[in-house]
Amino acid sequence: VGNGLARTPPMGWNDWNAFGCDVTQALVEQTADVMVSSGMAAAGYRYVNIDDCWMTSSRDAAGNLVPDPAKFPGGITETAAYVHSKGLKLGIYEDAGTLTCAGYPGSLGHEQQDARSFAAWGVDYLKYDNCYNNGSTTQQQYIDRYTAMRDALAATGRPIVYSLCEWGVNAPWTWAPNVGNLWRTTDDINTGFDSMLRNFHQSVGLARYAGPDAWNDPDMLEVGNGWSAIEDRAHFSLWAIMAAPLIAGNNLTTASATTLATLTNRAVIAVDQDALGAQGVLVQTRNGLDVLSKRLSNGDVAVVLFNETTTAQPISTDAATIGKSGGSAYTLTDLWTGATSSTTGAISTSVPAHGAAMYRVSGGASGNPNAPAGTLVSAAS
Ligand code: DGJ
Repeated sequence: VGNGLARTPPMGWNDWNAFGCDVTQALVEQTADVMVSSGMAAAGYRYVNIDDCWMTSSRDAAGNLVPDPAKFPGGITETAAYVHSKGLKLGIYEDAGTLTCAGYPGSLGHEQQDARSFAAWGVDYLKYDNCYNNGSTTQQQYIDRYTAMRDALAATGRPIVYSLCEWGVNAPWTWAPNVGNLWRTTDDINTGFDSMLRNFHQSVGLARYAGPDAWNDPDMLEVGNGWSAIEDRAHFSLWAIMAAPLIAGNNLTTASATTLATLTNRAVIAVDQDALGAQGVLVQTRNGLDVLSKRLSNGDVAVVLFNETTTAQPISTDAATIGKSGGSAYTLTDLWTGATSSTTGAISTSVPAHGAAMYRVSGGASGNPNAPAGTLVSAAS
């Protein structure tokens, strides 16, 4: 939705992937501290987002949502003030049905009252889930429930990023650009690498729907939640080239140096956050070996060579395939090692199992900035 609050994909952290229902004010505040001290904030991460289970199981006598006093002794107001004091922004979670997925009160029929609470508390971002959706079956019922909260948020006058979490069930890419800043395109990611592959495949073909203030969301990151460094870098490379929201989902207070190095790779983040706002596309795919390319605002093209298989494989492509043309000399910058090299067009390397190589390709003709990079091929199975 064109509210100007997410001109580039939102970056931040959310407790759900690592903590589930164990969210507390202390966790949120400690995470805000670490976001600053670890360099995450300086790298662009801004939102500290609370997921499900932050409230009591019933509304108060006036119908207001109540932060669980055992988990949030200072309420959301004090939590937001602390996060703001660190130069960061606070996100919260609700649900477009009668209950949240964990069974707490949903916002259906209470949209305006709840939006007013969020604004009064100092909330800057709302993730709006889809459980207990009152038996919605038609697409219009989904649109209506999510639009009601869009309008309620707008009526508060407070800038609040609006994240739709209806799991891609009613083709949200076809209507959510008018409703929210981002919309989930998939089911939940989990600590299985297969779930990352599934979400990648479900989201990678949706580039035409993405752009400033309107992003496909293949779910939050699992970097630092158990995969190898190679797998984590591949996951992060894919999310960045797809212009996905970069919402870390690990325990930042115990994150290793390797995990933080992955999450704060400025060259990769710059691809995700490029001002043009183009989602990368799959330009070559065969036997689990994928090539993606993404146009960048200065005429460069970002490229990911991704090996879905469980053995190391060579992956080769060329400048024409990724959307560069009219030149014979290009500079390749490896965005994970920083190494640069020259090529007359070939882009080729051995990629480890479940790994990715990522490059920025400079030089040659920049081509028409409004034309898609490369030629979209149908998604791999
Ligand atoms: C389903 C969502 O897809 C998850 O990201 C998470 O918010 C849970 N619900 C919380 O119950």
